Amino acid sequence: MPDNAPVIQVDHLTRVFSTYRKGEGFLGSLRSFVRREFAAKTAVDRVSFRIERGELVGFLGPNGAGKTTTLKLLSGILHPTSGTAAVLGHAPWRREADFQRRISIVMGQKNQLWWDLPAMDSFILNRDIYRIPEADFRARLDELTALFGLEDLTTQPLRKLSLGERMKCELVGSLLHGPEVLFLDEPTIGLDVVTQKRLREFVGEYSRRTGVTTILTSHYMRDVEELCKRAIIIDHGRIMYDGALRDLVQKHATHKLIDVQFTQTVAPETCDRFGEIAECDGARATLRVPRDRVPQVAADLLRELPVADISIAETSAEEVVRGLFQERSAALEEPAP
Ligand SMILES: Nc1ncnc2c1ncn2[C@@H]1O[C@H](COP(=O)(O)OP(=O)(O)OP(=O)(O)O)[C@@H](O)[C@H]1O
Ligand SMILES: [Mg+2]
Repeated sequence: MPDNAPVIQVDHLTRVFSTYRKGEGFLGSLRSFVRREFAAKTAVDRVSFRIERGELVGFLGPNGAGKTTTLKLLSGILHPTSGTAAVLGHAPWRREADFQRRISIVMGQKNQLWWDLPAMDSFILNRDIYRIPEADFRARLDELTALFGLEDLTTQPLRKLSLGERMKCELVGSLLHGPEVLFLDEPTIGLDVVTQKRLREFVGEYSRRTGVTTILTSHYMRDVEELCKRAIIIDHGRIMYDGALRDLVQKHATHKLIDVQFTQTVAPETCDRFGEIAECDGARATLRVPRDRVPQVAADLLRELPVADISIAETSAEEVVRGLFQERSAALEEPAP
């Protein structure tokens, strides 16, 4: 692989699942048993992108969008139906040993370490499977357990740990062989906000330190906003957006937020003629205002209400992304003319 080639290169990658449709009732079941009817589901639909060494890219999309399927294709768990992908110059689904030693996949919904064993035993097993030299193994283990504050947790059977502690062990386990590419599928799912934050900080710190190339999927926009400059948004198996998260907000946010503080109490009824109220407690109000009306509304507020302070902010990325999906599902539901 030439030095300047992207670490991940995906071209028209497609995966169709064929599931068989069962008829209704007993007779239906019997009929389907004799003659099976198949239904095709295109989970990943002609997806193309490139990811350079050291990038940490957020992969966003609603349930069933095709995120996990894409990561499974890129880590070699699934074969594509058509299209190609090269990760570190390898076709992932060939599962070459050299490829497997250079990547790692972590799924928040699935344990990869042994449930009944202490994490340390699984780590040692991985050391042998991946043939990690003892000195490297020790050095990485010490660094990762310190970075994560795992200390004595690794000697407890996994099943005795909390979800957050288990997730930390999973991450450490996936990094011991020093992968160059890391696929993180919902690593923070189900964790409380404090643990989510710790995990996020860990991923950010690890990525800065090692320059590992990472794709991260998450339903928590905070994860992606804090960690990733670039986001790829997928819906119904197709890429809807690929670019800087900041540009996404600037391009697609239809509204801005005007935040006003008052010198005396102002009733919500007074505020709502200036814009849609996002929050209002009498002393302060946040209004959602269409972008093109912001200068006029700000001027009106200053002229007509007892304003102590005023500030204008972009809507959150979360709101923009939600808006994009709503627009798209509304378009899909509209009957054909
Ligand atoms: N093994 C399978 N057999 C049949 N259909 C599947 C299979 N795996 C996934 N699908 C379907 O493919 C689509 C994409 O699934 P995928 O798991 O990639 O979505 P996702 O974006 O990861 O969603 P989520 O956010 O819920 O994790 C879904 O409609 C799903 O039902
Ligand atoms: Mg998924």
